[in-house]
Amino acid sequence: MIEITSDKIIEYLGQNPFSFEIFNVIDSTNVYAKKTISEKSSNRVIIADKQLNGRGRCGRDFYSPADNGIYMSVVIKADKTYSDIELLTIGVASVVHYAIEKVTACKCEIKWVNDILLNQKKICGILCENILERNTDKVKNVIIGIGINVKTTKDFPPELQDIAGALSTELLDRNMLIAEILKGIMKISEEFNFEKYLSYYKANSMVLNKNINYVKNGQMFFGKVIGINSSGNLEVELADKTIDILKSGEIRIGKENVKV
Ligand code: BTN
Repeated sequence: MIEITSDKIIEYLGQNPFSFEIFNVIDSTNVYAKKTISEKSSNRVIIADKQLNGRGRCGRDFYSPADNGIYMSVVIKADKTYSDIELLTIGVASVVHYAIEKVTACKCEIKWVNDILLNQKKICGILCENILERNTDKVKNVIIGIGINVKTTKDFPPELQDIAGALSTELLDRNMLIAEILKGIMKISEEFNFEKYLSYYKANSMVLNKNINYVKNGQMFFGKVIGINSSGNLEVELADKTIDILKSGEIRIGKENVKV
């Protein structure tokens, strides 16, 4: 097992604009990032080998066992409006997807909004959280939380057995993958220009032209994804030919209910 260390990550990065905090165990790297946001500057990378209470989107947990994955939060300075960063999750999903394919040679797909799947199983989830400037609606910092199942485990909780996967049966050098992801996040934080990621995102999307279903305001909808618009929203053609626009939430390719 190759340990995660800041020295190894920096070696792969070649340069280092980040400060690193690496834990064996933590409750959640995103929660820790948030708790300590006012006392520390941005460009922070918080990594844990294991999370006791990993957080996912829509209030879900993120299973984070020791020695198996990458659980990382990156805090970057934004000083932007909400609309300036509406494509942040599209940008982050794109750079993480790119890094995974580059380091592992696995052929992955992106499931809207920001899950990454390998062989139809989720191997990565991303939770971006905005920290607002006090008494304003300006986004001061963003916390980019990334969880990757690197090594196969038989111990996934029963509810994840059929839907979660991993990148490899071996534990590859996580430092290399972390460094490649950080290179992409560095670009994001330097430019805050997300439009350029849209075409990459669409080219690697597994949902375009697929029949999907979702639950919105308690009602179930079936439709076909006909596009992803310039705001990163999903354009869905419903059975009556009307177009529904999804800004966030969870979709499913198949027949079961999910909440939006
Ligand atoms: C999702 O799939 O719903 C998002 C999962 C995000 C998990 C990562 S692991 C590192 C960071 N810390 C957390 O508690 N969550 C994110």
